Amino acid sequence: MTLFRLTQISDTHLARRLPKLTRNFEQLANHIDTTRPDLVLNSGDVCFDGPSGPGDLDFARVLHDALPVPCRYLPGNHDIGDNPTQIGPVPTQPVSEQHRQTYVAAFGDDRWRFEAAGWCFIGLNSLVMNSGLVAEAEQFDWLAGELATTGGKPVALFLHKPIFLNAPDDPELESSAIRYVPMPARRRLVEMLRSVDLRLVGSGHVHQRRDFTFGHTRHVWSPSAGFVINDRRQERIGIKECGLVEYRFQPDRFEVRHVRAPGQLDIDLDEIWSKEQPAPAPAKAPATI
Ligand SMILES: [Fe+2]
Ligand SMILES: [Fe+2]
Repeated sequence: MTLFRLTQISDTHLARRLPKLTRNFEQLANHIDTTRPDLVLNSGDVCFDGPSGPGDLDFARVLHDALPVPCRYLPGNHDIGDNPTQIGPVPTQPVSEQHRQTYVAAFGDDRWRFEAAGWCFIGLNSLVMNSGLVAEAEQFDWLAGELATTGGKPVALFLHKPIFLNAPDDPELESSAIRYVPMPARRRLVEMLRSVDLRLVGSGHVHQRRDFTFGHTRHVWSPSAGFVINDRRQERIGIKECGLVEYRFQPDRFEVRHVRAPGQLDIDLDEIWSKEQPAPAPAKAPATI
């Protein structure tokens, strides 16, 4: 295969009780049915609240299973809980091994590697980083082995959280520490990645579309497929819209298309609650992303 077409969707936040987000996913599904990429990747926050019970994970899995193309997944903080950080507040729903295993049972491995069109694709669980869980150490050991066997192929890395805002040594700030891969795990990850030809880092989590290059690595932030977060709740860094990202990989090069599925609406987080499903306490809502 000399052309590999990958569609990245992210932050779908699916739950049976939130039908507006299901409708946005249906628009996305129609677009995927029309475009038929080789692979769909959901880069996390697949469901709205996995740690509180498997219902949301199961609901999201059923909707993804109906897509007409193969899918891969990575966990988000709303799927398995969030990382502790050195400087920010303690997460209200910390990542745990139990939550991780519940996710793996529903969606498969939380880290993976495959090759296509002369590229090496690696997916990582960004939520276990800085957690101290056994899974964090196991993933770093696994990653070292995978990076040692890329054979010089260009590498595309995907994970839920962006590694950093603008540069690897950006200082962690209390107000935004949960937005990026936390220190000191970030430093270790960046050092490990120096050994390979890293061309692309694709992430989600921030619910903003962004595309910039640091060194010779392009960093693409996929917007949420489900909802945007207004400026009262979250600072504006990139473009606040709902959408997806389409990639075309060929040996030694790739293209990025920033896309909105026809009919996909820019639903604001504040709009998705209903009388039956009132807004959660601010700490539970993804208001500080
Ligand atoms: Fe999200
Ligand atoms: Fe997230």
